[in-house]
Amino acid sequence: MGAGTADWVTMRVPAEARVDLGAIGHNIGVLRERARGAEVMAMVKAEAYGHGLVEAARAALAGGASWLGVAKLAEALRLRDAGLTVRTLVCVGVPGEPYEEAVARDVDLTVGAVWLLDEVVQAAERAGREARIHLKADTGMSRGGARGDDWEALVDAALKAEATGHVRVAGVMSHFACADEPGHPSIAAQIGAFTEMVAHAEKAGARFEVRHLSNSAAALTLPEARFDLVRPGIATYGLTPVPALGGFGLRPAMTLVADAALVKRVPAGSGVSYGHTYHTERETTLAVVPVGYGDGIPRHGSNVLEVLAAGRRRTIAGRVCMDQFVIDVGDDRLAAGDEIILFGPGDRGEPTAQEWAEALGTISYEIVTRIGARVPRAYPGAL
Ligand SMILES: Cc1ncc(COP(=O)(O)O)c(C=O)c1O
Repeated sequence: MGAGTADWVTMRVPAEARVDLGAIGHNIGVLRERARGAEVMAMVKAEAYGHGLVEAARAALAGGASWLGVAKLAEALRLRDAGLTVRTLVCVGVPGEPYEEAVARDVDLTVGAVWLLDEVVQAAERAGREARIHLKADTGMSRGGARGDDWEALVDAALKAEATGHVRVAGVMSHFACADEPGHPSIAAQIGAFTEMVAHAEKAGARFEVRHLSNSAAALTLPEARFDLVRPGIATYGLTPVPALGGFGLRPAMTLVADAALVKRVPAGSGVSYGHTYHTERETTLAVVPVGYGDGIPRHGSNVLEVLAAGRRRTIAGRVCMDQFVIDVGDDRLAAGDEIILFGPGDRGEPTAQEWAEALGTISYEIVTRIGARVPRAYPGAL
């Protein structure tokens, strides 16, 4: 790959996602500044949005996050296995998980239904210690959590379980549906509902250590929604949660690169890749880039997405295949082994994940998170 130390040369791989851990630390700093007074739970679910669970978690903690958030219990246990003992919350509750292990390993659990509370209480009994839980209120997202009578029943059951020493009701939380659309009427409605549902629980006797509602968009734009803790995901990785409001001083952490695998001259009128959806207009140089939809490059990006090669942006020529795609570099000089930047922070003129997302009608979350396990993650500069 590109020039570098001798180590880089010996560790050459045809494609890699380079993750700037310093950028993650910087982004947590931006979020802490914005969320003044509130603690930061870095959301590291889904391999830290593709950046690498443990490495990104460590970088976020070094940057000042004091909690970690994951979706699944297995992710929390991996963090524990890696020696990370910081408070860690599992945000999605499903039946039949090994909750006993969660309790034994000091993992906080989100509980949004009485059936889940029952499972956690039984696990706490078996583990012989108190489970720490966060009650999940459905304030308008209509996904996880309880509302109405179900909320009252959940609060009641949780406080009874606390009285018997099986659980500690450590937190209360909810999640925004439209925080990335400033001014959306659901935002104020959800803040109002959360405030009322928390007040109800406190009146019933709950003593919450942390109340939390804000994702990245809310942490950056809604001071009134910060409560005690914010839960940024996408902003931790430097991608804006509200593109219309700019970048908030965040720095994208992931750069996806691949080496040109094969470079060749072809005549005018050559059909390129499956379906021949691209034809060369004149004699030209094609380069094969050795990543495809099997690595998380969206097939919808065929003839749409741009990459940086030989100093200029090139649109993918023809269909993205499972393991490779082709670019047309005209008469420019490109050799097998030359580095191609698919996306990154944009410093060298390469597209950003946000640009890819816009070109495909999706969100940057999907672009970085879907980069597959086949693409090694590299942490240049990490000790
Ligand atoms: C419960 C919860 N909190 C926080 C987040 C982080 O959201 P974002 O990446 O928009 O900051 C998520 C992600 O979807 C989530 O599910």
